[in-house]
Amino acid sequence: METTFIFIKPDAVQRGLMGQILGRFERKGLQIVGTKLMSVPTDLAKKHYAEHEGKPFYDGLIKFVTSSPVLAIAIRGVNAVTVCRTLIGATNGQKADPGTIRGDFGMSGGFNMIHGSDSLESAERELALWFPEGTLDYSRTLDTWCYDPSDL
Ligand code: RTP
Ligand code: MG
Repeated sequence: METTFIFIKPDAVQRGLMGQILGRFERKGLQIVGTKLMSVPTDLAKKHYAEHEGKPFYDGLIKFVTSSPVLAIAIRGVNAVTVCRTLIGATNGQKADPGTIRGDFGMSGGFNMIHGSDSLESAERELALWFPEGTLDYSRTLDTWCYDPSDL
């Protein structure tokens, strides 16, 4: 099992898409183990996107993610990091495949609605930043029907 970090960005919160986006992860069989609707302090945004510091889009990216609340989410499942990135789709909504969140809901590269950790290492780093209090540990009976024993 892996836990990955997602956040629904200001554009999707403002567009009223939180429920539909969260629902896609739930219906996939992934387990929500943390949620937090929050304003993002600038220092947190900068730490989160540290790898992009100095790039041409960096200042606009920090301004965007701190401009209005986001929904921070921790999601658990087998191969959760890769599965969530696949559900999210390519960075630019104009290029993202239909069926993905960005492909179905968006037209932008910057206002692209959602972030997902790109590796297990990134997930661990980002979860420590955004959920320093930790995430929830609980079992769901439905998981016995989401996974064949050989998946685990
Ligand atoms: P994210 O980190 O937000 O989940 O997005 P991502 O992995 O798909 O893309 P990443 O390369 O990590 O870029 C982070 C965010 O910066 C903006 N960006 N703009 N103009 C550009 O070339 C460009 N490249 C990236 C996007 O908003 C992207 O989500
Ligand atoms: Mg990224």
